[in-house]
Amino acid sequence: MLKCSGVSVTYGKKINALKEISLEVKQGEIVALIGGNGSGKSTFLKTISGLLPTDRGTIHFNDKRIDPMPAHKISALGIAHVPEGRRIFARLSVEENLELGAYCRKGNWRKKTQGLFDIFPILKERLKQPGGTLSGGEQQMLAMGRALMSEPKLLMLDEPSMGLAPLMVAKIFGIIQDISKAGTTILLVEQNAKQSLSIAHRAYVLETGRIVLEGTGSDLLENDQIRHAYLGSS
Ligand SMILES: Nc1ncnc2c1ncn2[C@@H]1O[C@H](COP(=O)(O)OP(=O)(O)O)[C@@H](O)[C@H]1O
Ligand SMILES: [Mg+2]
Repeated sequence: MLKCSGVSVTYGKKINALKEISLEVKQGEIVALIGGNGSGKSTFLKTISGLLPTDRGTIHFNDKRIDPMPAHKISALGIAHVPEGRRIFARLSVEENLELGAYCRKGNWRKKTQGLFDIFPILKERLKQPGGTLSGGEQQMLAMGRALMSEPKLLMLDEPSMGLAPLMVAKIFGIIQDISKAGTTILLVEQNAKQSLSIAHRAYVLETGRIVLEGTGSDLLENDQIRHAYLGSS
């Protein structure tokens, strides 16, 4: 579904944030890209979304080359991006936030939100409440719900567990699995290696802009290098 080959991205003239990234996401998969702070995770998602230009390499989505396209065209092809820090509209209600996610798509609001409320029952309870009054975890659900309103083929999540308490983190990862089971392909970038690897079909490890390891989620969970660097055990 998504195929990146040799993608390099530079900020200004000097900061080489991504170095020849090759990564593939197949239909139906949850693919995790894990890496520490500053490794290039957000840069990578912004590049796929068309928010940053590539220096080299190609990005294909369903066999169409998308790296030269503007962001709105890429989004119209069915790629939704939930940015780091959620970026919901704090003063707008939950309902209005969801409507904004659906504005460029036709279709029945009731039918679409029904599926959504099965996954996020809490959003139904909070429909009239301003987005800014939700807890961090609920805001993350709203950001994910808003992205799903466009009925994307590929959902990209930038550190959905950031800043959340452990119970909420577990809940969010459970929801990511539910979204996957309901038929949406997922590319997840995270610092939380343990939880991501345990739900990912396949994963890649990013270090200073380079992919240093790849494998199935369970293989990487067992990998000594990963255990040492990311899971706090030796
Ligand atoms: N707008 C920017 N201008 C210059 N350098 C940037 C910019 N955004 C990120 N960087 C640099 O690019 C590298 C990767 O950043 P980022 O993609 O945000 O990493 P991550 O999301 O993994 O924490 C870092 O060295 C960061 O300082
Ligand atoms: Mg980031």
